[in-house]
Amino acid sequence: MPEVEQCTEQLPRDVFTASHDRRCSAGCRVPSWSNPRHELQGKPMYKILTLNNISVSGLERLPRDKYEVASEITHPDAILLRSFDMHNLQPPPTLKAVGRAGAGTNNIPIPTLSNLGIAVFNTPGANANAVKELVLAGMLIGCRNICAAWDFSRQLQGDDASIHKQVEAGKKNYAGFELPGRTLGVIGLGAIGRNVANMAVQLGMRVIGFDPGITVEGAWQLSSSVEKAHSVDAAFAKSDFISFHVPLIDSTRKMVNAERLKMMKPGVVLLNFAREGIVDDQAVSAAITAGKVYGYVCDFPSNLLKNHPKVVTLPHLGASTQEAEDNCAIMVAEQVRDYLENGNIKNSVNFPEVRMDRSEGFRLSVVNANVPNMVGQISTAIAQAGLNIVDMLNKSRGEMAYTLIDVNKSPDESLLKKIHQIAGVLAVRVI
Ligand SMILES: NC(=O)c1ccc[n+]([C@@H]2O[C@H](COP(=O)([O-])OP(=O)(O)OC[C@H]3O[C@@H](n4cnc5c(N)ncnc54)[C@H](O)[C@@H]3O)[C@@H](O)[C@H]2O)c1
Repeated sequence: MPEVEQCTEQLPRDVFTASHDRRCSAGCRVPSWSNPRHELQGKPMYKILTLNNISVSGLERLPRDKYEVASEITHPDAILLRSFDMHNLQPPPTLKAVGRAGAGTNNIPIPTLSNLGIAVFNTPGANANAVKELVLAGMLIGCRNICAAWDFSRQLQGDDASIHKQVEAGKKNYAGFELPGRTLGVIGLGAIGRNVANMAVQLGMRVIGFDPGITVEGAWQLSSSVEKAHSVDAAFAKSDFISFHVPLIDSTRKMVNAERLKMMKPGVVLLNFAREGIVDDQAVSAAITAGKVYGYVCDFPSNLLKNHPKVVTLPHLGASTQEAEDNCAIMVAEQVRDYLENGNIKNSVNFPEVRMDRSEGFRLSVVNANVPNMVGQISTAIAQAGLNIVDMLNKSRGEMAYTLIDVNKSPDESLLKKIHQIAGVLAVRVI
């Protein structure tokens, strides 16, 4: 049977199989140890399938002399997508990487791709500035009653002299308060929470942060003025504004509920630009009516909230800027390119972080199960083929391990086949 390079059929997208031995309908077998870089006038060509529109700023990072990018393409080396649901697609046999321009990866069948040795990338933080700016707008909307005041102005009637009188009489109803000196509680100090916390420090606010899972890198990026809260309740008790930047998981669902609202300072302004479900809308609505909460600004309208006089809901606008889309596309294109061309891994959700500068010679990339003696068996196969290892890096993450090996001579197909036959090796390629 011909191998993939001779096969011209585009494999169906709607049949899904986790089988490691993948074939087109004519039976062309596509070995996962093959190195199907497509040659064009002597230059290696990588093929990229886009399943959603990806911002041109990102696609420009894939130069045309090396990359063929299209929404219909046979034998792609990588897929780029945003929200396209990949769960019912068969991963094309040549696929090495999937790049999600955005943070969430619910639309991607990660365990199945991991079993096939396919890396999945996302773009954490690429939309952080967009969300941060909307949180700033939300704080101002909340403390200056901007939306209610705007509604008042829009409904004014009469001649300008009459409007002037109505303005002077009505404006006292919309008087607000200022940000400097107030305390902002930031729950979740990931990419977005950090940006919000640092911005608030610059605005002269006191900032208290709570995040039991903050990373070392994250802590380095946080202003030293941000105070650490030892519990979510402690942050709630001291804050005039509370902004949520956590994922929706069991421990964050209804994090703001009737009990917790009792602990908060009277007049608190709540901001939710994270996920619907983190705040119990019924409880907040009741707390506003009771005069405990001053206002609530969020990105998640509902029948209960959308016309509430002290609630402002926006239609999930947090990351909806051209800049955020561009940032996501640029980041994912660069990460996928570095993986295809150098085997380096940054911001993968299923593979370990790996970066090795290239030395002279040739590079092998091996995806394997995280079990003992893999490196030993791979090195032995390389030595038996008469190649010398110049540099090597092996890292693992959960059940996955990944090895980059620079060798002094070009590995031939028989070596690739031999490495792939080692039990636990999922994919191997020469870069
Ligand atoms: N409104 C929008 O359009 C929009 C846009 C982008 C992101 N988001 C949402 O914003 C949220 C944050 O995004 P991010 O990019 O900063 O994510 P991130 O993964 O960088 O940060 C999330 C942080 O939350 C922390 N965390 C988890 N559980 C916690 C808990 N119980 N208490 C305190 N901290 C906890 C984690 O340790 C992590 O540091 C996500 O839910 C994301 O979906 C919304």
